[in-house]
Parts: sequence; C-alpha cells; structure tokens
Amino acid sequence: MRLLVTGNQGYLGSVMVPLLQAAGHDVVGYDTGLYADRVLGPAPTDPPTIAKDIRDVAPGDLEGFEAVIHLAALSNDPLGALEPQITHDINHHASVRLAKAAKEAGVRRFLYASTCSVYGAAGADAVTEDSPMRPVTPYAESKVRVESDVHDLADGEFEPVFLRNATAFGASPRLRADIVLNNLVGHAMLSGRVLVMSDGTPWRPLVHARDIAEAFSRCLTAPREAVHAMAFNVGAEMNNATVAQIAQEAQRAVPGSELDITGETGSDPRSYRVDFSAIRAALPGYEATWSIADGARELAAAYRSAPLTREGFDGDFVRLAVLQRKQEAGLLDADFRPR
Ligand SMILES: NC(=O)c1ccc[n+]([C@@H]2O[C@H](COP(=O)([O-])OP(=O)(O)OC[C@H]3O[C@@H](n4cnc5c(N)ncnc54)[C@H](O)[C@@H]3O)[C@@H](O)[C@H]2O)c1
Repeated sequence: MRLLVTGNQGYLGSVMVPLLQAAGHDVVGYDTGLYADRVLGPAPTDPPTIAKDIRDVAPGDLEGFEAVIHLAALSNDPLGALEPQITHDINHHASVRLAKAAKEAGVRRFLYASTCSVYGAAGADAVTEDSPMRPVTPYAESKVRVESDVHDLADGEFEPVFLRNATAFGASPRLRADIVLNNLVGHAMLSGRVLVMSDGTPWRPLVHARDIAEAFSRCLTAPREAVHAMAFNVGAEMNNATVAQIAQEAQRAVPGSELDITGETGSDPRSYRVDFSAIRAALPGYEATWSIADGARELAAAYRSAPLTREGFDGDFVRLAVLQRKQEAGLLDADFRPR
C-alpha cells in the first residue's frame, strides 16, 4: 500500500516506519523535522519525506496515497499547556485540514494517533472507548476535537480510525525522555536515583512503541466493518500501572539505583486505568506484548550502548527543551515553524 506518514521523524514514527516497510508498504513521510537531528544511537534511515508544515497541507500533497497515518503533533501535555493556541492550531485545526485534504484526494483510510489522555481524571473503574472523555489539558482537548471533527467526515469512501494510545515507552532512535518510563530509567542511570515527585498513586496505562506501531499496521489492512469510524484504546491491561509501580520497574532495570517516592501531592490530575479488549476483538491476533519490565531493561541497554549524558538526556530528548533551544538559536519562529 502507498502510505503517507506524518510525524515520521518523531519518536513513534521512527519506530513505526521500518515496521510498515517490512510489511511491504511504500512509505512517504511528511514532517518539518523538529527533532530529526536529536538521535540516540545510530541514525535511522528516513523514507522520502515532504518537509512541510501540516498547517500548510493541500490536497495535492495527498494525491496517490491509499492511506494516511497521522502522527504529527505537538505531542505532550506540558507543551500544550505552554502554548495552548499553537497546540490547537497544529493538533486540532491542521489535523482536520489534513483529513479534509486526504478525503478530497481520494485517500480511503485515515489512521489518527489519539491518546488515552482523552479520559483525563477518570476515577477507579477501567475506561472503555464508550466512557466519557474528560480531557484536562489543551493537548488532550485537541485530540478530542479532532476525533469529533474527523468522525463527521466518515462516509462510504473515507474511513477514519482513532487509535487512543496509552503512554508509550521503549527505545527509539528519536528518543523521548519526557515520557514516564523512558525518563525514570534515564535518571536511574545518570543519577542513580528514581525520583517520583508525588505519592506515586495515580494510574497510568503504558504501551511499548512497537506495540503501537503494530496496531497501526494492522488497522491499515483490517476489513472496513472492523474499524470504520471507530476508536480503539491501544495498550494492554498488564501495563495499567501506578506511577510507583512504573518507578519500581525502572529501579529494578538499573542495578544499584535507589527509589525515592517523595509523597507530595502531585499537580497532575490524570489518573485512569484502561480496558483494551475492543482492539483485540477488532484485530484478531493483535496483542500488546511488551511488559513495562521488558521495556525498562530494553531502555537501560539502549542508554548504556549510546553515549548518554545528563545534559543530552534533559536537553536533546525533552520535546519542550528542544523547541525552546531552537527558538533561542533562531532556527524556529514563535509558531514553531522552521526558519
Ligand atoms: N508518545 C506517546 O506516549 C504518545 C501517546 C499517545 C499519543 N501519541 C501521539 O502520537 C503521535 C506521535 O507522538 P510522538 O511521541 O512520536 O511525538 P514526537 O514529538 O516525537 O513526534 C512528532 C513529530 O511531528 C512533527 N511535527 C510536529 N508539528 C508539526 C507540524 N506542524 N508540521 C509537520 N510536522 C510536525 C515533529 O517534527 C515530530 O517529528 C502524536 O500525535 C502524539 O500525540 C503519543
């Protein structure tokens, strides 16, 4: 299948594209490369990539593709809180513009990278795709709006699917250090300490980047009736964990490191456990198999074999830090467009 993958030079995209290519797809990327030069370990080989902002996408960019995987976004909660208007422009308005352009160009399937953050502070019961969405950040709000607006475009020719990913973990050549397990394992190695600045009780569903990639790959070829205009939580119940449990796995993966749970009340109200049965039912044989413990060990090994430094970890692999540095260096304008 000929595919356009937006955000292909990000953390998930750099893991997903090789998997799609191995499945026989012809992949073209679409990315402004905000973090393309921030690589851990050997540099990946990117597919041919359209270096254009998704805010400027036009139907002509989508001609000839059978499916679009849309990953490009300002992709975390702190980023959205800092720049709520830009987050809405890129994550919401440009995503809807992209979906409309895809539909106009005759693209059939449109896979959207949503998030389990749409459930927000959900309480004790595990949320399903039918649970109310209570986003607590501009980032999560932007994802809810895209789902709603793009759902309205679904018809006999245009088949959107909304993949609500749990928080990812695991090695990627374009590492993100601002997601919980990746962060804790890195700090365990660099400082000998796994520090949790809360009481560790909030629930966080996690999923390995490769299990996300596999879910997207299978959604591309699933029969229309299994996925058309549907939302799926992407993850596994075994990886519904409290922040304290996640921290314990980080500590176990780094021998000699110490665990410090400060016990303060955290400022982040997100806490939710997630039911992942719908995606297993829709995609027979699909299962997210990477455990948090396996991912923590994989990360520790990747960090050990790369020249990881404290400065690099916090500066090159934290999305917000990279954007701020590039703005200060005059490489990005105030709207995060490359100069
Ligand atoms: N990583 C996670 O834990 C996670 C969890 C749930 C959902 N998601 C979603 O998955 C997607 C990918 O996440 P990621 O972790 O790979 O993020 P990332 O920040 O590593 O990658 C995002 C990519 O999008 C590109 N991009 C950003 N704005 C752009 C624009 N205006 N025009 C063109 N390209 C642009 C960036 O250059 C980058 O390569 C995002 O939509 C994110 O919200 C991620």
